[in-house]
Amino acid sequence: MSAFLIEGGKKLSGSIAVQGAKNSVLPILAATILTGGISVIHNCPQLTDVDASIAILRHLGCEVCRDGEDITVDSAPMNRYDVPDRLMREMRSSVVFLGAVLGRMGCAELSMPGGCELGPRPIDLHLAALKSMGADVDGQGGSLNCCCQALQGQEIVLSIASVGATENIMLAACCAEGTTVISNAAREPEIVDLQRFLRAAGADIAGAGSSTVVIRGRRPLHEVEHTIIADRIVAATYLSAAAAAGGEVELTGVDRCCMLPVLEVYRMAGCEIHTWPDRIEMCCPHQLKGVRPIRTAPYPGFPTDAQPPVLAALAMADGTSVFVETIFENRFRHAGELLRMGADIRVEGRVAVVCGVEQLLGAAVHSPDLRGGAALVVAALGAEGSSKVTGLSHIDRGYSRLEQDFTRLGAKIRRVNEKQS
Ligand code: UD1
Repeated sequence: MSAFLIEGGKKLSGSIAVQGAKNSVLPILAATILTGGISVIHNCPQLTDVDASIAILRHLGCEVCRDGEDITVDSAPMNRYDVPDRLMREMRSSVVFLGAVLGRMGCAELSMPGGCELGPRPIDLHLAALKSMGADVDGQGGSLNCCCQALQGQEIVLSIASVGATENIMLAACCAEGTTVISNAAREPEIVDLQRFLRAAGADIAGAGSSTVVIRGRRPLHEVEHTIIADRIVAATYLSAAAAAGGEVELTGVDRCCMLPVLEVYRMAGCEIHTWPDRIEMCCPHQLKGVRPIRTAPYPGFPTDAQPPVLAALAMADGTSVFVETIFENRFRHAGELLRMGADIRVEGRVAVVCGVEQLLGAAVHSPDLRGGAALVVAALGAEGSSKVTGLSHIDRGYSRLEQDFTRLGAKIRRVNEKQS
């Protein structure tokens, strides 16, 4: 079992180039299936979720070659349409392969993704959309079989602006006859990145980033080269670490427009922030101030994925901050671990009331999920004394070089591998 050993209380200072976005690279790897040829993707972070996507592509018959942060996929030899349960379980977001596999092969066999640490993760909207496009969907016994003669473009109104459903529909619609219009589409920057990839491959698709995405299907796709955008959640995590530990950091490569709600919170908390189109500098005070209530919301609202690290930083603020979580029902599990470090947090359903304490104290804590684990690292960097953070398999799903980056910023953090007792 590996763990981070962190000696807290060291101010952070320096500059970091933010890694590529996990939530961008996963759907784009699925999209490589549609081109039926070679896709070269740059700035792919080294993450276990990316490894899982590569394993799925290889299982489907694609040839995949990884060289550092570049991944080349040749989907011409693809000859299967099933994703085994073992690979589906490695990564919940493997459901984004559904639209791509169905579109390319006319059939897809996956297992139901089920729930995850954040609570139930239904895919009813994905399935209803694919059904309306002409797919037969049979979802019994935990497996999911989809088949269609030919997908037909449709007008689809999403009742929730689901990121995964929007991506799945975009992928399937590229292979459908006619035009698909997605209303109440999710507007996340990662969806815009997927559109950029698809357009560069020759797809006729427009509107990503707004609530209406229009796809005219059956355009011949071709070879494509694409660079993944920077990860705004990793950027939010690094800013949170600086806010918790104090100091001055610069993040490069990240689009400031994607970061506005998080920057607004840290401005309210007393940080001095300067931004350029692709660069952010933040100078943090000795102690943060409590902020106005934070309510998570779909983009462009405050991202649910940034809530845990920001909450951890504000656990050491002067004053009380309230978080309302509207996206996932089980997203405060890091709060229980933060209590072990001396935090004063009360959670009632979807609301967490965080009464800032002057100092957190180092402790042994366990990551409950990906961003909850990142929150514990943030807290440990700001805490007095040593902490041990276990459950790194969660953190490794989304952060490619956390300990290297924090070490460069002056933190004392190292990974140890311990024998399980
Ligand atoms: C994506 C992100 C995840 C982020 C989330 C919300 C990826 C790989 N993951 O997850 O990091 O936290 O967006 O920004 O990009 N819902 C339904 N039925 C559906 C689909 C969704 O009820 O068919 C609900 C979900 O339970 C959730 C809400 O809609 O409450 C938003 O989920 P969704 O946007 O689909 O999240 P993901 O795509 O799974």
